[in-house]
Amino acid sequence: MARETWATRIGFILAAVGSAVGLGNIWRFPFITGQEGGSAFLLVYLLFIALIGFPAILVEFVIGRRTKLNPVGAIRELGGGLWKHIGWLFVLTGFIILSYYSVVAGWFLRYTLIGVTDGYVLANPDEAAVLFGSVATGLDSLLFHAVFMAIVIAIIAAGVRSGIEIAVKVMVPAIVLLLLGLAAYGFTLDASSQAYAYYLSPDFGVIAENWTSILPAAAGQAFFTLSLGMGVMITYASYLGEDRNLAEDAGIIAGLDTLIAVIVGFVVFPFLFAAGLEPGAGGAGEIFVSLTTAFTEIPGGRLIGIVFFGMVGIAALSSAISILEVLVSYLIDEKGVERVPAAAGLGVAVFLLGVPVTMDLVFLDLLDLFADSVLLVLGALLLALFVGWVVPEMAREELSRGIGDLGVLGDAWIWVVRVPIVVVVFVSLYLGVVDYVAFLTGDFADWIAAR
Ligand code: PFF
Repeated sequence: MARETWATRIGFILAAVGSAVGLGNIWRFPFITGQEGGSAFLLVYLLFIALIGFPAILVEFVIGRRTKLNPVGAIRELGGGLWKHIGWLFVLTGFIILSYYSVVAGWFLRYTLIGVTDGYVLANPDEAAVLFGSVATGLDSLLFHAVFMAIVIAIIAAGVRSGIEIAVKVMVPAIVLLLLGLAAYGFTLDASSQAYAYYLSPDFGVIAENWTSILPAAAGQAFFTLSLGMGVMITYASYLGEDRNLAEDAGIIAGLDTLIAVIVGFVVFPFLFAAGLEPGAGGAGEIFVSLTTAFTEIPGGRLIGIVFFGMVGIAALSSAISILEVLVSYLIDEKGVERVPAAAGLGVAVFLLGVPVTMDLVFLDLLDLFADSVLLVLGALLLALFVGWVVPEMAREELSRGIGDLGVLGDAWIWVVRVPIVVVVFVSLYLGVVDYVAFLTGDFADWIAAR
């Protein structure tokens, strides 16, 4: 059977934007920004997106479009020797990320439903924390994880055009509209000016003091939010039927993803300040606890909460499908498995891997920290080394298709990939590994000892 392609250019762009915009922008971004010092972090992050993220998207695009293969097959075809094996890393990373991503996405579905059935009727943050505990772990969590994975499987089983492309054409515009509505509402709250000040005035002292944690957090977040380092953009670009201007597409994708993350700050921080809450007290559950508290306080909070949680659920879905597609494209291309059984089999395997996360949140940290600060950054490092040093001629030639003569910009791109990206990513990887070891020997060891 002929390999599938996108029906339209906009379909490809929306699919990539849908992949990029997800829990990373809405759940992770505000709490990392809060943890790492507000606007100081925002500034470093924006620099990373422009200088590192955008060229790194192109790295994946050229590999995908050139080979028209899944990431494992693509790297094997282009590279010899040890390079042949690095595609495996992407499959592993995809498995891990999707397993916990789906659990967290399930929480958002559950919170949407709570708004519909009961509203967010909580007397104080303690009650909100109890509610979060009951949603995040146990049978409810397992059930909504299963529901979310079932939807992901159904979309991917339907194929590139009839599944992914149709779904993102509905989902991405919906996300943007709902988010703009929420930001406009946030603007009307009295606390908004205080929230904007917190969000928008960088404290350079904070950057200088905390760069060893800000740097890997910003790098990890930049790769995570752009869906880089695990072959999503390789896979999506492999379905391109004709030669388009990849740089333009990458610019639109990085631009929209960043714009949406920044707007999320304009939504979340006013809600928090309006309810008198401190952002960034930390942790994955923070946004649920503080926002549900905020939704009991602010006028019209119930409806706003339903719209907010529902919007995040949609955003998570358009990202999750891209991860499963990487795994499925591997089975289809390399093993000749049909799409439907590939989607179902892999989806169930991912579901099972996520089950421990529904039992104890320590597994969320165990997987998220590993995938985000180590695996994605390692994947991005290997891809940059590969394109920058092993196949630069192919890369430059491929990028020029659909653009024309690249002139010095082509060389500039290759050199950015060869040196600055490699250095920054390498340092981030080192710091990420140190962080992860600290987690394993600290919190995680404590957790095991307490068993
Ligand atoms: N970019 C997605 C987000 O920001 O939520 C998450 C993600 C999707 C990460 C796909 C990695 C990936 F391969």
